[in-house]
Amino acid sequence: MQIAVLGTGGVGRALAGRFAALGHDVIMGTRSPEATLERDDHREWAAANPSVALAGYADAAAGAEIVVNATSGDVSLDVLGAAGAANLDGKVLMDLSNPLDFSAGFPPTLFVKDTDSLGERIQAAFPSARVVKTLHTMNNSVMVDPGAVGGGDHTVFVAGDDADAKGVVTGLLTAMGHTDVLDLGDISASRGTEMMMPIWLRLMSALGTAEFNFKIVRN
Ligand SMILES: NC(=O)c1ccc[n+]([C@@H]2O[C@H](COP(=O)([O-])OP(=O)(O)OC[C@H]3O[C@@H](n4cnc5c(N)ncnc54)[C@H](OP(=O)(O)O)[C@@H]3O)[C@@H](O)[C@H]2O)c1
Repeated sequence: MQIAVLGTGGVGRALAGRFAALGHDVIMGTRSPEATLERDDHREWAAANPSVALAGYADAAAGAEIVVNATSGDVSLDVLGAAGAANLDGKVLMDLSNPLDFSAGFPPTLFVKDTDSLGERIQAAFPSARVVKTLHTMNNSVMVDPGAVGGGDHTVFVAGDDADAKGVVTGLLTAMGHTDVLDLGDISASRGTEMMMPIWLRLMSALGTAEFNFKIVRN
């Protein structure tokens, strides 16, 4: 599949590398390809992942079948706007962002919660995109290599209004090694999963590692 990963931070790199290793045609979207190519961290990563292309946000999204939002939550709507609504039209939009507000330092608060969510705001702003909220409740290392934690016995959520889009995303998650994909229903389920961030951050401090995940135990 042709996949555009928007954002060149830790999440963007992890997902782009993993999708490429799985045989997908991957392009990363960034504000400035020239500036990103000059970043030491990206240069090293690109050398190790030569099949992954790099382009501006709109050019990356234009040819993609699936677009992944791996940008900071506070800029995600702007980035998707730069990618262009026409380039998202009808496409599966995997949203991995969290609505974190670091303006008062660490730990961050959430700039939207309870009665709304970033996932819903993205779906409302781009109504013809098929938004699927997923993977944002775990560290990027766990996203792409679930087996490295607890033998992979843990849960990844999907939420979105389009059943077919959730099916496509579930296929990608399964291919990465996720064995417990839990469909929480429509995109408003993002309220609950985004609000898992405060406890996720507290768990990271308590455990001294980001390499853990939630497991929903049920009969
Ligand atoms: N880190 C994790 O393991 C993790 C886990 C779960 C969820 N998440 C969520 O996933 C998203 C990406 O996380 P990350 O750790 O990769 O974030 P990050 O390192 O902060 O990267 C965010 C990306 O956003 C893009 N961006 C576009 N406009 C920007 C602006 N005005 N200011 C700053 N960045 C801008 C940048 O890409 P360009 O410079 O290429 O334009 C940047 O690489 C976030 O929403 C985060 O909450 C992260």
